[in-house]
Amino acid sequence: MKSLLDFNDLSDIEWNHLLSLARQIKQSPADFATLCRGKVMATLFYEPSTRTQFSFQTAMQRLGGTIIGFSDPNSTSVSKGETLIDTTKIVSAYADIIAMRHPVEGAPYAASLFAPIPVINAGDGGHLHPTQTLTDLYTISDLKGTLTGLNIGICGDLKNGRTVHSLLKAFMRFPGNEFYLISHPDLAVPQYVLKLLDRAGVHYRQITSLDECIAKLDVLYMTRVQRERFASLAKYERLAGCYTLDMAKMNVAKKDLAVLHPLPKIDEIAYEVDSDPRALYFTQAKNGMYIRMALIATLLDSYEPSVMPQNEFPDRVCHNPRCITRHETYLPQLIRQGKTAAYCRYCEHETDDKQ
Ligand code: NCD
Repeated sequence: MKSLLDFNDLSDIEWNHLLSLARQIKQSPADFATLCRGKVMATLFYEPSTRTQFSFQTAMQRLGGTIIGFSDPNSTSVSKGETLIDTTKIVSAYADIIAMRHPVEGAPYAASLFAPIPVINAGDGGHLHPTQTLTDLYTISDLKGTLTGLNIGICGDLKNGRTVHSLLKAFMRFPGNEFYLISHPDLAVPQYVLKLLDRAGVHYRQITSLDECIAKLDVLYMTRVQRERFASLAKYERLAGCYTLDMAKMNVAKKDLAVLHPLPKIDEIAYEVDSDPRALYFTQAKNGMYIRMALIATLLDSYEPSVMPQNEFPDRVCHNPRCITRHETYLPQLIRQGKTAAYCRYCEHETDDKQ
């Protein structure tokens, strides 16, 4: 298996293997307690995280492995100006696998090109968060017994929420669902994601009212407004608190609705909802540990190193200001021809896409 940078890096066989391994681990964790004995995982977290970092760490420890890493790059040589790639190369000499979270889009992809060991994207800016997607799909599949034919509402900050972009992209593989994308117009799903959904024939509606669709939903995926991605607090405050899921809304929802949330939640789910049996976000967070155990064990067992791809457009550059190539300027540009446009391999923006 290759480094996990995007859910769509997985073949169907690999995804089904991870799903069934996570189920086995959840059922009898003791059978897997020494599987990764002697192995070291580096968790390189350039951006704050509790759940994802703890979940990776406990996953490795429950497989019998050990951990090194940081959660504050200012306490490392990064603060002295060390490049992402130098840090990656050094850490690769000490560890067997890397989980990286970074505020800049495409950083884990860049690391994967230079690391001789597997790299897992633990969230890159507003771009992707594939291990959260594994968690979400595993949870939905367990609760609903299927990943098709569902009415799925996704509500909140659909512009900046990388869990949303990751999940929508992954669902292009599972046809027959109906998506209700519920957000303030200023926080709508980015154009580049909508274009991908259109090309894949995914059915979706962009709406602003949760009341309008809640009664139809099988799954409701709530998200917080991502304060750290706003240019100023004033801009954040203008949009924060747009949506709150409370018992009045839950009362009109289906009896078997599954309310999910990648967490942390702020004020988008009223406290009273936590005790409703349809509130499944704490189960979802626990599932994240089991699917990460399955991922780590599989990558350590069958890793295929990345090959540096060719730049298909030597005269073009990526214009996305949030792309890692704009921050670590020594990185080679890697533009590839997609079906209808040319894309940056790091951040997936169209090369002429200036948004
Ligand atoms: C998510 C993230 O970091 O993108 N959280 C997580 O991984 N547990 C969601 C969020 O921060 O809103």
